[in-house]
Order: sequence, then C-alpha cells, then structure tokens
Amino acid sequence: MNATETMQIEVKKTKRSRLPDVDWKKLGFGNFFSDHMFITEFSGGQWKNSRIVPYGKFEISPTLSALHYGQSIFEGMKAYKYSNGEVYMFRPLDNLKRMNVSAERMAMATVPEELFMEGLLQLVRLDSNWVPKEEGRSLYIRPLLFATEEHIGVKISDTYDLIIMTSPVETYYSQPLKVLVETKYTRAVPGGVGFAKTAGNYGRSHYPTRLAQQKGYNQLIWTDGYEHKYLEESGTMNVMCVINDTLVTPGLHDTILAGITRDSVIITAKDLGFKVEERKISVDELVDSHKKETLQEIFGVGTAATIAPISLFGYNGNDYNLPPITDNNVGGKIKKQLDDIRKGRAADRHGWMYKV
Ligand code: COI
Repeated sequence: MNATETMQIEVKKTKRSRLPDVDWKKLGFGNFFSDHMFITEFSGGQWKNSRIVPYGKFEISPTLSALHYGQSIFEGMKAYKYSNGEVYMFRPLDNLKRMNVSAERMAMATVPEELFMEGLLQLVRLDSNWVPKEEGRSLYIRPLLFATEEHIGVKISDTYDLIIMTSPVETYYSQPLKVLVETKYTRAVPGGVGFAKTAGNYGRSHYPTRLAQQKGYNQLIWTDGYEHKYLEESGTMNVMCVINDTLVTPGLHDTILAGITRDSVIITAKDLGFKVEERKISVDELVDSHKKETLQEIFGVGTAATIAPISLFGYNGNDYNLPPITDNNVGGKIKKQLDDIRKGRAADRHGWMYKV
C-alpha cells in the first residue's frame, strides 16, 4: 500500500442540489449524477489533496497518459436504502480489493483501505438523499482510477487520480437478452488483463457487440481466445447456466472478471439449496443440453443488472430459444433472495451489508 499523507478530507458543498432536476421516470442507468464527488491524487509516492467537491467537469491535459496508454480502471458497486431510511453499501471492501488487483496488473498506484473507505463513506453520507428507496432502484457507485502524468512517451505514470462518483439507477436491462455466441473476436486471453476491470476491456468489446446488434442480438457470449469453444463471460457480465437443476458457471481464471455479484450469486444459490458447479462449459454442451431439454436457464450476473435473464442464444447461424423466464426459476429465486438481503428484509448471514 502507498503511504497516505493525510486522511483529512476537505468538503466543499454544492450551493444548489440538483436532486429536484432528476426525471425519475427516465432514471435508467448512469444518466444522473449526485451532487458531489470524491477526488484524491497520488504523486510523489503519496495520496494527497483528498476532497469532496460538487460533481462536475474538470480540466485535463491533452497529454494525460490514461487517454493515450490506457492506465485506467474502475469499479462498480451499489448502496441501498432500507425501509427505515438507513443506507447500506453492498460488499464495498471486496470492490476495493478487486480495484487494487486491477491496479497491480496495470502497474498503477493502489489505494489504501482507510482512504478509500473514508472518502466513500463521507461522500455517500453527504449525498444520502440521492439513494433511492423504491424497489429495483439503488445508488450506483463508480470509483475511477486513472493515470494523470502529462507525458507522451510510453512509461508507467507516476501520478494518478481516484474519483468516486455516484448515480441513482434502476435495473440495467428491462428485457430478457438475446445473445450471440462470439466465435471470431476475443475478449481476453491467458496472460492478458481479462480479470482486471480496465477500460480497454470494455472498449475492445464495442465493435463485435455492434456487429451482433446489427444482426438483432443485444449482447455477446464471449468464448475462450484459443478455440472459441468454452463460455467465458456474457457482455459485461459473468455468465451462468442452469442445466439439469444445477447452477453451472465458468471457473475463475485470468481471462474472467472475479465478479462480486458472481460470488454472491454462487453463495446465495448454495444457501437456497441449489447445486453449484464452477467448471468449463463448452458451447457444444449448451447446444446438446438444449437438444435434450436439460438446459433450463442462462443469465448474466453483474453489479449493474444483478441477474439479467437470457431468452435466446445464437450460434453457428441457429437461434436456440430458452424456456420461459419466470420469478420461480433458479435465477429469479436467487435474485429475490439477494434483493431481500440488500434491502434489509433477509438476514445478512455473510456480513455483506456495510452501514453508511
Ligand atoms: C456490471 O455488469 O456491473 C458492469 O460492470 C457493467 C458496467 C460497466 C455498467
């Protein structure tokens, strides 16, 4: 960990809250940002100038190294409001851990826990009236860490900014997804950065995703970069299938993001008595089990969507429709249990909720 020069966080409050300007009917995902953001800067081997300021634009140099050479990582997590008005974040320390894993891989400065948690807590407390209370809504929290060195030679940046911004959101996907199994383009290869939440992993996905969307699909199912034979992720999410009443998901390795929602879904599934297997899933197995009618569900899991049901997958020119999606299927039951934990209606057996 890097040394923290000071934990002092200066707070400059906005003169006018923008909360009354939010069009709650058009909330969607990532369209509105809360009044404040947390900023802290790394230079000379230390984090300094930690502050909370009104959310807004800032000036950057055209030579900002993150823009040229991609040292940019982010996280996504959520805060929830209980019916008694208390605010809780879901597993924020796990997000910090993962951010520092991404930072290590990208040769960036890591963020000390005390600084991250103090900035995060003060920010969410200050903007706690932005945390929606309604079912299906939450406050999405986006920490962003990027290289700020102003230098056009290729080198590891010596300076970084961490910004935490927050956004009231609703469910990411409103409809079940049609996905195409991608067999040409690759998201990640062994030895690469697939496990890191780095900007480039998303940028590289846009082109193949657009090609699939032009064919009528919403998203891709990524397959391995060697043979395009085994499932890896679904769009920006981890992927899970229910085959023969067993929840099956690819095991973690360096081409797959270690999703915190993925982990929470696996634990919750086991708590609910479902059998879970973390193993390779081939596209052939998917097609075979579809033929035998043992393939019951496929869904993506991620912070933004929690569980995004898939209604159809396309592979090799064929479309395979999945059985109807109901709240009573495995994905629906796990989602309900997770929602109940996050809204304080079910016991938090694993200590996931962090009081703000
Ligand atoms: C998620 O599914 O939580 C993601 O990471 C998507 C996000 C980039 C909006």
